Amino acid sequence: MNRDYLHKEEKSLIQAYSQLPISVVQGTECELITNDGKKIIDFYGGHAVVPLGYGLDEYLDVINTQMKKLLFQSNLLPLDIRANAASQLLSISPKNLKKVFFVNSGSEANENALKIACHYKKRKKILSISHAFHGRTAAAAAVTWGSESWYGFPSKPFEVEFIPRNNSEIARKMINSDVAAVIVEPIQGVAGAFDLSEEFLRTIRDECNDHSALMIVDEVQSGMGRSGEYFAIQNFNIEPDIMTAAKSLGGGLPCSVIFISNLLDETIKKGDLGSTFGGNPVICSAIEFVIQYIKEKNLLNNVIEREKEIRDLCITGPVNGIQGKGLLLGLITDHPAHEIQKKLLKKNILTGLSSDPSVLRLLPPLVLQSKHIEKLSQSLTEI
Ligand SMILES: Cc1ncc(COP(=O)(O)O)c(C=O)c1O
Repeated sequence: MNRDYLHKEEKSLIQAYSQLPISVVQGTECELITNDGKKIIDFYGGHAVVPLGYGLDEYLDVINTQMKKLLFQSNLLPLDIRANAASQLLSISPKNLKKVFFVNSGSEANENALKIACHYKKRKKILSISHAFHGRTAAAAAVTWGSESWYGFPSKPFEVEFIPRNNSEIARKMINSDVAAVIVEPIQGVAGAFDLSEEFLRTIRDECNDHSALMIVDEVQSGMGRSGEYFAIQNFNIEPDIMTAAKSLGGGLPCSVIFISNLLDETIKKGDLGSTFGGNPVICSAIEFVIQYIKEKNLLNNVIEREKEIRDLCITGPVNGIQGKGLLLGLITDHPAHEIQKKLLKKNILTGLSSDPSVLRLLPPLVLQSKHIEKLSQSLTEI
């Protein structure tokens, strides 16, 4: 453990995170290299952010070229590259979604999605799902399960109630004509890659239709191919009214997007939404590249194949079950996940935790290879 490095951060950065005792200076493909020269297999992917791995020359060339051509322009000026990124995104998303707006983080995308819903429906209640995570800003945190301990604001911007996850019967009772929207992650990432049932998701869709409420699907963590479909909700052929995505979207650069249906587009007037950095040309070039690369390299198939291998090989040692989908998986452990995370790190494997203390989370780059899974399986067996 390099105490010097941690000490440097401790001096000048707000200590909001419990950090792991390694310092990383470089990344190549699915591996991180530490300042003392260790190679670590990255099953965490910077919190689901590096779909194409690290140091991919073609990706870096595209960004670099765009930086030299036009580093920045705001939404005041229309850009071909922004239009292209938007239409590429729409081409891979549920068919009823017709327009997008670019912002900068998962929270900001959800904040705007919730605002659009409240504004459009003129209703004051939002339903979320127990154990959900939607972000840290005022509205996004309001619909995040258990945020009371860190919420901080004097009041929430709307009424919020939580539907117990996978409980369709209660969902039917709770979704009524007071509800502006139900916000839901098809696979609850922070909760440990807990995949909601098709029946539950379909109940939400049907009840929203029946009571003229909106269904907001948060694909911030599960989107951009991570579930084996571009967006996890496409595994069920369910069409949301609003969808958000972030994390993997820009291949590692910070960005997010809100998708809306045609109907909602008609309600948004000029000036209702805004963002200085959202939709900037460098990010848009990155988004376009990520989509093209996923297609060209057939990464959705890689995700499905690697998921199969993880399911076959990684129920071993302290792991007695696996939840989630694609490369957003939760390994269910028979003793505290944080202890297993530490042991794996000693074997040069980086994994993630979750809000469930007995779930170790895997969110590796989508270019993960069999050899990485074999190493994980062997290491789990040994600990
Ligand atoms: C499903 C989901 N929504 C929203 C967020 C918030 O995203 P950000 O940290 O980019 O604001 C996260 C972050 O983990 C997330 O997993």
